[in-house]
Amino acid sequence: MVGAARPPGPAAAARVVTGWLITGADGMLGRDLTALLGAEGAEVVGLNRAALDVTDAEVVAAAVRRHRPDVVVNCAAWTAVDDAEAREDEALAVNGRAVGYLAGACAGSGAALVQVSTDYVFDGHAEKPYAEDHPAAPRSAYGRTKLAGEQAARAALPDGSYVVRTAWLYGAHGSSFVRTMLARARAGSPVSVVDDQRGQPTWTADVAAQIRALIAAGAPAGTYHATSSGETTWFGLASAVYALAGADPALVTPTTSEAYQRPAPRPAYSVLGHDRWLSPGIEPIGDWGDALGRAFPAMLAAQ
Ligand SMILES: NC(=O)c1ccc[n+]([C@@H]2O[C@H](COP(=O)([O-])OP(=O)(O)OC[C@H]3O[C@@H](n4cnc5c(N)ncnc54)[C@H](OP(=O)(O)O)[C@@H]3O)[C@@H](O)[C@H]2O)c1
Repeated sequence: MVGAARPPGPAAAARVVTGWLITGADGMLGRDLTALLGAEGAEVVGLNRAALDVTDAEVVAAAVRRHRPDVVVNCAAWTAVDDAEAREDEALAVNGRAVGYLAGACAGSGAALVQVSTDYVFDGHAEKPYAEDHPAAPRSAYGRTKLAGEQAARAALPDGSYVVRTAWLYGAHGSSFVRTMLARARAGSPVSVVDDQRGQPTWTADVAAQIRALIAAGAPAGTYHATSSGETTWFGLASAVYALAGADPALVTPTTSEAYQRPAPRPAYSVLGHDRWLSPGIEPIGDWGDALGRAFPAMLAAQ
């Protein structure tokens, strides 16, 4: 089963987790993670931006003191990739400095921190999957701010932080490429989609399951890649959505990044390797196409 933990290896010691605190709990990932843990009967507090603004160090410290979590999962982020180009310091406040506040509060209380990060920390020039320890070289403001968040987590909590990189997310809530394509497919609208960027479309519910498995297995602190296996292009993904929706695949036509310029550069190659999951004995997320099929009923129901 995707996201299920195999029996922990000799290096792993199961962590007894009674309390989870999720920041950014109204976001696409935050909602699925809070729901998954809640459905399993875990003690989980999900706080949205109104309840916990992560850029306020005092508020962060007070929340950790009050809820005394064993694990904090930071799903709060500035995710407007293009806007970050002109507003990098504002993005850094959320994606970088705030992670330092969270990590500091966790260090003081003994909680672990799961910092969700991104494929954008890499340069996108590779030709084989990026290993977890491949040198980061972000090309966008968003990528730089997310890298700062990774560094802040590791610096304050070298033995108690997990950097979980994901990419190409879609979920039942919030806006995503898959939801946009699904709406177009159901309307029978044509769409032109870039076919020269490769990545791993990833369902938020699968990322949530990986985070839960990571903690349950007592995995070593470090960097993990929570993306689907396999790879495709945005054109390939749009075509798959149209096919699943029963729309005419000929409505989807390929284009190039050159013809579809945006303020922030997009990585041409965003495929991440998954070897690090082997150490705690956790299955990586399975094939992206299978995941899309599993997610589809929930995606349809949410339209
Ligand atoms: N979406 C993707 O394709 C993708 C790809 C790679 C990595 N990631 C990473 O995955 C994580 C989850 O992303 P997502 O797609 O779930 O993002 P999302 O839907 O945009 O959710 C982010 C949440 O953070 C909240 N937030 C923003 N500023 C905040 C603050 N100062 N304090 C507290 N909360 C704040 C947002 O609230 P408001 O709505 O009120 O602003 C939103 O609810 C992020 O770390 C992101 O960088 C996402």
